[in-house]
Amino acid sequence: MPKVLLCPPDYFDVVDQKNPYMSRESAVDRVKARTQWEALCAVLQQNACEIETIDPVAGFEDMVFAANQVFVGEKNGVKFVVPSRMLYPSRHREVPFYVDWFRARGYRIIELDYGDDYLEGHGDLLWHPDGSRVYAGYGFRSTRGGIEKFAAAMSEMGIPVVPLQLIDPYCYHLDTCLCPLNKDAALIFPGAYSADALAALHQFWNRIHLLTAEEAHRFMGNGIVVNGKYVTPHVSPQLKVLLQKEGLTPVIVDTSEFEKAGGSCFCMKTFLP
Ligand code: ARG
Repeated sequence: MPKVLLCPPDYFDVVDQKNPYMSRESAVDRVKARTQWEALCAVLQQNACEIETIDPVAGFEDMVFAANQVFVGEKNGVKFVVPSRMLYPSRHREVPFYVDWFRARGYRIIELDYGDDYLEGHGDLLWHPDGSRVYAGYGFRSTRGGIEKFAAAMSEMGIPVVPLQLIDPYCYHLDTCLCPLNKDAALIFPGAYSADALAALHQFWNRIHLLTAEEAHRFMGNGIVVNGKYVTPHVSPQLKVLLQKEGLTPVIVDTSEFEKAGGSCFCMKTFLP
């Protein structure tokens, strides 16, 4: 039974502009946000996930995006997390709450010495589904140096890291433009990557399915793969066909309120080992 960590949206809001989706003009409907968050939890539960939650903290308007504060892994039976260094100080203050949550549950904490660098957890760091490597996006939030420091720590555990430069501000996190579907196939939005990054991706996947800019910018590449389903805020006719080729059925969860903050399904959870 996959375990997944989420944070209730009690204090969720849009108060500044951390990414191009955010604008102070788009007021958040808190009631609607709560309903959408609960619908996401219900879909995950219906698909055999066990939900764990972390207590939300007043004044932390983005804490609901549970994918960013730490990188979670397991190697040789040891569960670990790498705490993030978030670019925005208001978000960086979320990190200790998540680290405490993981520490209390016995995870090893691997602290990196970031210096001037940044690293934003599973916003930019995605496991290959077979655990053989980690894809690491940089350019908007995580820095190249942050990825290198992370890669050095992972290499001590024998985990290779593939750096991928991101170039589209609407795909400021890797989880908006790369979605592993299974060990052979991934969805990507090619316009989000430098030429080198695109070439690297093609080396590691047998089947790459391309999303359009419109699909990616509507978070169709920010889905959650679970139990033969693809949990997504929207589905286009071509995405439906791509998913079908990989044996996945789309399940739509409206995340309109969270999209105002630049996040959708994938950003709102972290899978636990
Ligand atoms: N407003 C949040 C931010 O800009 C959204 C984070 C979305 N998370 C993600 N994993 N893409 O930091």
